[in-house]
Amino acid sequence: MQAQGLFLIMAQVSVFRAGPRTLSANESLDLGIRVVPRIIRPLLCMQQGTFFVYSTRTPIIEMTRKEDTMKAKVDQIREQALAQIKDCDTIEKLNEIRVSILGKKGELTEVLKSMKDVAPEDRPKVGQWVNETRTEIETVLEEAKTRMEKAVREAKMRAEVIDVTLPAKKAEIGHRHPNTIALEEVERIFVGMGYEVVEGPEVEKDYYNFEALNIPADHPAKDEQDTFYINGDILLRTQTSGVQVHEMEKGKLPIRMIAPGRVFRADEVDATHSPSFHQIEGLVIDKNITFADLKGTLAEFAKEMFGEDTRVKFRPHHFPFTEPSAEMDVSCFKCGGKGCRFCKGEGWIEILGCGMVHPHVLEMSHIDPEEYTGFAFGVGLERIALLKYEIDDMRLLYENDIRFLKQF
Ligand code: DAH
Repeated sequence: MQAQGLFLIMAQVSVFRAGPRTLSANESLDLGIRVVPRIIRPLLCMQQGTFFVYSTRTPIIEMTRKEDTMKAKVDQIREQALAQIKDCDTIEKLNEIRVSILGKKGELTEVLKSMKDVAPEDRPKVGQWVNETRTEIETVLEEAKTRMEKAVREAKMRAEVIDVTLPAKKAEIGHRHPNTIALEEVERIFVGMGYEVVEGPEVEKDYYNFEALNIPADHPAKDEQDTFYINGDILLRTQTSGVQVHEMEKGKLPIRMIAPGRVFRADEVDATHSPSFHQIEGLVIDKNITFADLKGTLAEFAKEMFGEDTRVKFRPHHFPFTEPSAEMDVSCFKCGGKGCRFCKGEGWIEILGCGMVHPHVLEMSHIDPEEYTGFAFGVGLERIALLKYEIDDMRLLYENDIRFLKQF
């Protein structure tokens, strides 16, 4: 008897996770355990639904069947939950309530865990209360959540006024740059004449950009093409002419190539200058190439690029890497050569530099000038795009304003 009494006290206490301790009269009532003075034991013994345990050391303890207490507890949880949900004003708080009542360690879940203390015949009833309460709370929670989500949505709708009469925004799909259009045209023309399109490095050695093109360290042409130096020997190329040297060094002859690419110069930005722009280099090396080949090729290019009636004119010039050298003008494709605002009254527009490859340049790249000759030319891509599309300020080409680009 003594041992049984002790056991029951421990069992009750551990269910409620209070640890072994002496229960106050109130607490005991809460748990459905009643501490009764030994003297009234026989009386209570007659009461239905009670039984006794006692020991000589501990007070006599009576355990009621917990059915009533459980009902009260479940009802209390229910009332409390419904009140909390009613007062709740955010979805986050609603979630907290759900967890504190229905979660793994929630109040209602704890009630289910203490079912083992309920008389077996009452368990279905208590289980049913708990489940009904659970369903009811879940329903009320769900309704509250739906109500709050709707309120949030409506508040958002009120805050964002949508004018359905506004025209829809069109997805801009970009446009080819005038430089690209001009380059593709140049490439089409030269590829049609059997040329290869090659590329060279933008970060270049001084040797390829200057030295191998007959521009030694103290040459004044270096001043005209001041650029950005990585170190004393490596720089951002000032011209695509260096690609000629790379191609010749490969040792594969004959050569017919154009090399488009970006070049750099330490220039201030204005309507006709930019520190970065593009050139297209041309090079032909073969046996018996003459200045006539140069003229015929470039005249053909001008006609294709600017129109069938375009005439060309070669003016003597100087470039260190060609001998003889020339600049080529084309007849103004606006006025046909009469002179207009476009050609500044000249009737001619300067287009490119060209010449016969200097024998010393060929020798430096291990080509025998007695056996092979060639011509070269260099044309500014922006210059062609500006002329062809009648753009009067080079800066427009670098702003990438889609409204401008869309026009070409
Ligand atoms: N590289 C020259 C420049 O930037 C243009 C040029 C002229 C290239 C004559 C050539 C050429 O190949 O033969 O001014």
